[in-house]
Parts: sequence; structure tokens; C-alpha cells
Amino acid sequence: MKGGFYGLRGKQISLILVALVCTTVLIWGWEKTPILTSLLPPQGRLSQFSPEILMGAPTVNTIASKPHISAVTDKEVVDEVEGHHFDAGNQSDPIQISPETGKTETNVTTAPFVKKGDILEKEIEKEQKGKHSDAADRMDLEKSSPAEDRACSYAKGKWVPDDSRPLYSGLGCKQWLSSMWACHLTQRTDFAYEKLRWKPKNCAMEEFTRSKFLRRMQNKTIAFVGDSLGRQQFQSLMCMVTGGEEMPDVLDVGREYGLVKARGAIRPDGWAYRFPSTNTTILYYWSASLCDLEPLNITNPASDYAMHLDRPPAFLQRFLPNFDILVLNTGHHWNRGKFQANRWVMHVGGVPNTNRKIADVGNAKNFTIYSVVHWVNSQLPKHPGLKAFFRTISPRHFFNGDWNTGGTCDNTTPSEGKEVLQDESSDPLASGAVIGTEVTLLDITAISQLRDEGHISRYSIRATPGMQDCLHWCLPGVPDTWNELLFAQL
Ligand SMILES: *[C@@H]1O[C@H](CO)[C@@H](O)[C@H](O)[C@H]1NC(C)=O
Ligand SMILES: *[C@@H]1O[C@H](CO)[C@@H](O)[C@H](O)[C@H]1NC(C)=O
Ligand SMILES: *[C@@H]1O[C@H](CO)[C@@H](O)[C@H](O)[C@H]1NC(C)=O
Ligand SMILES: *[C@@H]1O[C@H](CO)[C@@H](O)[C@H](O)[C@H]1NC(C)=O
Ligand SMILES: *[C@@H]1O[C@H](CO)[C@@H](O)[C@H](O)[C@H]1NC(C)=O
Ligand SMILES: *[C@@H]1O[C@H](CO)[C@@H](O)[C@H](O)[C@H]1NC(C)=O
Repeated sequence: MKGGFYGLRGKQISLILVALVCTTVLIWGWEKTPILTSLLPPQGRLSQFSPEILMGAPTVNTIASKPHISAVTDKEVVDEVEGHHFDAGNQSDPIQISPETGKTETNVTTAPFVKKGDILEKEIEKEQKGKHSDAADRMDLEKSSPAEDRACSYAKGKWVPDDSRPLYSGLGCKQWLSSMWACHLTQRTDFAYEKLRWKPKNCAMEEFTRSKFLRRMQNKTIAFVGDSLGRQQFQSLMCMVTGGEEMPDVLDVGREYGLVKARGAIRPDGWAYRFPSTNTTILYYWSASLCDLEPLNITNPASDYAMHLDRPPAFLQRFLPNFDILVLNTGHHWNRGKFQANRWVMHVGGVPNTNRKIADVGNAKNFTIYSVVHWVNSQLPKHPGLKAFFRTISPRHFFNGDWNTGGTCDNTTPSEGKEVLQDESSDPLASGAVIGTEVTLLDITAISQLRDEGHISRYSIRATPGMQDCLHWCLPGVPDTWNELLFAQL
């Protein structure tokens, strides 16, 4: 072997160099060309199933296998299935509170609900000023181009301190906010968790304001359907839209949706409120499993329930045409304990389930999420105005134990980092279910995972002494951010 690099002669080397340069240019061109890129599968979709999941292993613990988030417990006292019957949300409860002194209360301005036209515009402008106290952030926002916005995932970014938070006072919003979630009404004295804002990476996220929200939602109805974490998001939105102020003119329109307290029940299956100034309705319907439940023997109060995994809740089937925005969630009720406590019997195709794979609770959950997402997707052509979201699972943070073995979430500052850098969702079931549909993923899992300090923690007014609520969030708090992400996508 003579002459040249590894036995290649000069001519060959230059040929290889030319080929290399061409390939580089081609790859670069491919990446930069929108038409070509649009032919590629969406980024982050390919890698989201871990091998374990692809093999159909029980999925109950896919989230749980990460430290401190487990989707499943047996009898989750701190959750609300039971709460559905013994109300923890009784807003007229007498509460022994000692509101802490010295805390800063946000000065919420009166919302311009009844204003129209340019007055509303001015209010909006005024609202927009004064937000984003952080000048550097503002510059970031201005820099990002529309192209970046399209590519942007709000689920990537970081938590930054922001004095414009919270968006409403934790001492206000008594009309909508359950006392069990209003941490200002408990012994808690640290409220730094209220002062963080989510800042997406490389893209601008439109700032939530009450007037913008109402104007955009004129003559529209937004419906949350899901479990107690969905109810938290609903209460959060009510507080955000009212700024936490008393709003006597807001109408209770639950009756229009059959959301009335049944005889003997402690509370209705949901709530619906209308803002008369813009004819905007915000409602919540309790459906912990997102599937249809039907008593097997209607005359027997202790009857088992057929849990039709492949049928959306009857409420959703009936009222979907009334909705303009739908936000679904489920997650924390998919475990044996809850199934037993609720006397749920899985049904598929209208008959008791015999499929052994689906009989596994984790697979049943996946099957149901797929079913409801695909059902909603199938309805979209009939309701072109409807925009549907599936909100990913809200993480739990029980450290050094679980909900019933002394697990705690006592930190007063976030202990799991500040930033989300990953492309894939931390909720593979939800993100898998929306693939190929027009249902939008409202991905809050990884974001909220960083906020272990924001739970009710030891200040739960209902839980057994020694037990902490590391599932639900203090309000104002993390669910407000879920609504900011939602608003930015409306
Ligand atoms: C969930 O269900 C869908 C549809 O049946 C299936 O394609 C997917 O593989 C399942 N995913 C898991 C994690 O089991
Ligand atoms: C709910 O509030 C009402 C009115 O104050 C009270 O009579 C009732 O006992 C409360 N229910 C529960 C479960 O605390
Ligand atoms: C709240 O803002 C209003 C109007 O700007 C002002 O008059 C009032 O003094 C403020 N209240 C507090 C507690 O800062
Ligand atoms: C309110 O909005 C609904 C559509 O969501 C419309 O049918 C109704 O006429 C509106 N009512 C008023 C008073 O504008
Ligand atoms: C809302 O509904 C009312 C009554 O139907 C109608 O007059 C008005 O134009 C609607 N507004 C919007 C923004 O759709
Ligand atoms: C339904 O429940 C009632 C009351 O418990 C009982 O009398 C009846 O036999 C049950 N019907 C069936 C079909 O099981």
C-alpha cells in the first residue's frame, strides 16, 4: 500500500470529500425545507413508547416507575372518589382558619366584563402592560418568530419567579374555590409556590387575561370532564376569570346540564356557570374514569356498576354538541382499590369483559383513554367549532412512602429541578392516544412534576392526621398554569 491516506489515492479522497459535502448539504436542506419536514413524522412521537409498553406490559405503573409519581393507590383517601360522597368540597363549611399575617395579597383589578369594543381593547392593552415584569423574558418573546411558535411545545421550558403571580388571591375566590384547596385558609405560611410562572422554551406563550379569555369565549362553552384534578382545573379557571372577586352576576346554569343535587347526594355531579356579559359558560362534570357507568340493578342502591370502557360518559354523549372547548382527564382512579370501592365491573361491547388483556387495570385504562379520545375525534367533523383537549396525568409526589404509609411532600421550594428539556410526554398513554387524531394533548405532566412543593401537603383539612395530600394542588397554584397553557392554545 503506497501513497495516500489509508491506501486511497488523491483523486479518490477528493471524490469522497465531494460526496460528503453533498450529503451534508442535502441533510441540511431536508431539515430546513418545510415541505420536506412536513412529510416527516412529528418529532418526539417515535420514541415515546418504552419497550415495556410496546410489549403490552401492565401500564399502570408506567408513570409510577418514575420516582415519586405513581398513578395508582388502593384506597386513596386524599383523592376524591370517596369525596364524591362525603363532600370535601362543601364550600359553606365552617372552617377554623387563621389567615397568616404579612402575606402579600395581589391587588386584582376589576374585570372589564361588561365593556365592549374599544373600551375592552384598552383594558386588554392595559392588562398586557405590567405583566411580564421580567424584561429579559419580554425580549425573548419578541424574538421568537411565528415559525418557532408552530414548532414550539409549551411543555418544554422552565419555572421562573414572577411577581405578577398569582393571578388571583388565595384569600379570595370563595365563590368557586373549595376551602380544602385554598391553602391560604390553612395553617400553611409559605407561599413562594404561588410566585412561579411557566416560561416555555424558544417560544412565546400568549399571556392569560380575563378580558381576552372572555372575549375569545364569547357565546361559547368550555367543559372540563374528569376527576378531582379536573375539578381543580375548573375551579382554577373560575378564579382566573373572575380574578378571585365576588361576581354576583355570574349565573349558575347547572340545571341546563342536569347538574343538580340529587336527593340524598352531597353535591351535584358537576357545576356550570355563565358570565352574562359575554355569554360564556364554564362547566365541570365529574367523570373519574371517562367511561359510561350504568347501575346493573337500578332498583338496588348497592348495585354494581357496568363500567363501559368503550363508551364515553352519557353526559358527554348528550352534551358534546353544546361544547366549544372540551378538556378531558383521567388517571388516578385506575386501580383495584377504586374499582372495588366504586363497584365497577368492566364491560366491553355492552357485556362483561372477557378479554384477559383488558382485564388488567392498566390496559383497561389505556383502552378507555384510546376509546374516548377516538370517539371525540370521530365527533369533530359533526361539530366543526369544537376544540378538544386531553390533559395528561397530574403527577403525585409522595416522598418516603405512599399516601397511606406516611408519604410526604413537605418541601417549600421545588426539589426536582426547574426545567423540562425532553421532547416526549411523560404520560405515554395520553400522548399515544391522541396520535392520528385532532384531539390536542394538554401536556402538563413533566411541568407539574417539577412542582412537588405545590401540593396541599400536611395542610389537608380532611385527611387523617399524619396523612398528607401530595396529589391535589394548592390553589392558586400549579393548575393555574395548566389553564394558561390551555388558553394559549384556544
Ligand atoms: C393502548 O391501546 C392502543 C389501542 O388499543 C394500542 O395501540 C397501544 O399499543 C396501547 N398502549 C399500551 C401502552 O398498552
Ligand atoms: C355542608 O354545608 C352545610 C351548610 O353549611 C352543612 O349543613 C353540612 O353539614 C355540610 N356538609 C358537610 C359534609 O360538611
Ligand atoms: C389596589 O389598586 C387600586 C387601584 O389601582 C388602589 O386604589 C388600591 O389602593 C390598591 N390596593 C392595594 C391594597 O394595594
Ligand atoms: C349565547 O350563546 C349561545 C351559543 O353558545 C347562543 O345560542 C345564545 O343565543 C347566546 N345567548 C345570548 C343571549 O347571546
Ligand atoms: C353572540 O350571540 C348573540 C345572540 O345570538 C349574537 O347577537 C352575537 O353576535 C354573538 N356574538 C359572537 C361574537 O358570536
Ligand atoms: C334488583 O335489586 C332489588 C332490590 O335489592 C332486588 O329485589 C331485585 O331482585 C334485583 N333484581 C335483579 C334482577 O337482580
